[in-house]
Amino acid sequence: MSKSDLLLEVRDLKTQFFTDDGIVRAVDGVSFEMKRGETLCIVGESGCGKSVTARSILQILDYPGRIVEGQILFHRVSQVNGSEVRETVDLVALGSRGPEIRAVRGKDISMIFQEPMTSLSPIHTIGNQITEAIRLHLPVSKYEAEERAIELLHRVGIPQPADRMGTYTFQLSGGMRQRAMIAMALSCGPSLLIADEPTTALDVTTQAQILDMMKELKDDLGMSIMLITHDLGVVAEMADDVVVMYLGTVAERGGVVEVFHDAQHPYTQALLRSIPKYGLRAKGVRLDSIRGMVPDPYSRPDGCPYYPRCDHMMPGKCDRISPPSFKIGKDRVVRCLLYEGHDVADQKLHSNPSGNI
Ligand SMILES: Nc1ncnc2c1ncn2[C@@H]1O[C@H](COP(=O)(O)OP(=O)(O)O)[C@@H](O)[C@H]1O
Ligand SMILES: [Mg+2]
Repeated sequence: MSKSDLLLEVRDLKTQFFTDDGIVRAVDGVSFEMKRGETLCIVGESGCGKSVTARSILQILDYPGRIVEGQILFHRVSQVNGSEVRETVDLVALGSRGPEIRAVRGKDISMIFQEPMTSLSPIHTIGNQITEAIRLHLPVSKYEAEERAIELLHRVGIPQPADRMGTYTFQLSGGMRQRAMIAMALSCGPSLLIADEPTTALDVTTQAQILDMMKELKDDLGMSIMLITHDLGVVAEMADDVVVMYLGTVAERGGVVEVFHDAQHPYTQALLRSIPKYGLRAKGVRLDSIRGMVPDPYSRPDGCPYYPRCDHMMPGKCDRISPPSFKIGKDRVVRCLLYEGHDVADQKLHSNPSGNI
């Protein structure tokens, strides 16, 4: 893969919450990359730092959260006067306010959530909201924006889209509301759509329809999707690549086939064993049947965060040494001392990337 196929590189990201009770190391040295046009799934149990990773990318962390270390390199390709311009932007360096990060949020990267009312207003019609969002991003007339909004509603599978422009969110079903939120997120033509558990609250049939629609949109619009889920069935269905997170770290990452058929980290292996035999698609497989509990976020164990639950734990080692990430194959990384001897991946890069603005 050439560098130009990369869309996003997260390098040694650390995000912490400075609460009155102590520091929560929500994301504790996460590295992964995304290629242009792919679907990357981030999977892991509740509380492992999936949402905080996503929110760090867009710099929309809740107080008292802060990125304390790392880089998030976004490789932007834009058209300026008919020619292609490529640049690399470190989103961390942009900070959480200011016109540059707002431009990224409005134009390059959109996010959708489990709860559609996070991004939709209850007191405006969906047509109005999407039209306004389009006019904020594009220099088009009201009429053109309305035409575009209808086209977007059509694309996300809302029937009779022209008639639906005048409806309010309370008049829509959960699935239709989710579709309207996706239309809103697409209004700026993003190159990356981050979807944080977008179908978790929906019934299985609606979930499948929305995931299919997202797949089609990705191909039609040439977007990339970062899909966050705790459901391994969704990962199997959607992912090109997978990042398996555990307690603020990346336990393992790689192509979906490799990770599912040849899981290397004891945590990934346990996750896969936790799937009931009757199949992945069986009503939202939950990742809650692994022995032991996820430790309290305020008091992480020394060494590997997974050692208290691990069947392969090596006393005197795993409880003392924080494992580096080992490169065990092409695009395959595992953060576990069982793989000592392999090359270490994600060595910190101290130089600035070229073309940074
Ligand atoms: N606003 C906050 N204040 C304090 N801790 C937080 C806050 N938001 C998230 N966290 C902590 O960060 C960790 C990761 O959370 P999150 O990314 O939401 O997990 P998930 O993988 O379920 O999306 C959790 O331990 C959570 O308690
Ligand atoms: Mg979450």
